[in-house]
Amino acid sequence: MIIGLYDSGLGGLSVWRELRKLNVKLIYFGDTAHVPYGEKTPDQLVSYFWEIQDFLQSRGCEGIVIACNTASALVLPEVHSQVTLPVLGIIEAAVEGCLGMSKGRLGVLATPATVASGVYQRAFSEAKPQLQVFMQSAPQLAPLVEQGKATAPETREIVAHYLAPLGKQNIDTLLLACTHYPFLRPLIEELMGPKVQIVDPAPILVQKVGGLLGGKLYEFDHHESETEFWVSAHPEQFQAVAESLLQEQISPVGLHQLLGEKLS
Ligand code: DGL
Repeated sequence: MIIGLYDSGLGGLSVWRELRKLNVKLIYFGDTAHVPYGEKTPDQLVSYFWEIQDFLQSRGCEGIVIACNTASALVLPEVHSQVTLPVLGIIEAAVEGCLGMSKGRLGVLATPATVASGVYQRAFSEAKPQLQVFMQSAPQLAPLVEQGKATAPETREIVAHYLAPLGKQNIDTLLLACTHYPFLRPLIEELMGPKVQIVDPAPILVQKVGGLLGGKLYEFDHHESETEFWVSAHPEQFQAVAESLLQEQISPVGLHQLLGEKLS
């Protein structure tokens, strides 16, 4: 059994580090030729998805986790009736995590495309209309993580700038609604202070993966716990920044170029 997961680049590694606990073989795809996804249109993201699905399937994957809020928000609703493999996004897990935690004032930090999609606004108003939700778009954060600047002094200022409006709203909980942001978590926690609880949906998403594959996951032995890493551009840069973010070495990163825009 092999599970594929993908993101625009490094962000999905915050999901990968949880998913690897399941002890199945994983294939990680970082679409680094097209990062940031937060600035892309739904049509572009859908066309990338089809190519990535085909690639992951050709490598033997039997299920795909979209380790990216932007693609989960914009791609899944478009493709779910046509996919050839079971596909799981992150939005449901994120909503579940927040409903269990927020006392009434929730901040959501996300990419511009995720905010514009309205996916979280709709999900929370359906699940808990009395919850007050404050959306904050943070266009520069995923690119800063990609550039290996998660702990750079300039990043601190930019994160503080995005968090300030949420601080003014007295939020009690903050959803990290982009998989790149858990790599900024120590900084975000420091800037928001101890009264704000942080939700990273990755552990909840991983619990749902068993369901995606009909419970088959738990039948596997522990020898399959390995990962292949692939990207659509700049494998050396991906590897160097990934190792610095994860504080461990990863296996060599392969290059698989995508055609990019709409194929038909
Ligand atoms: N990590 C992705 C997300 O969760 C995409 C960030 C980006 O490429 O803009 O939204």
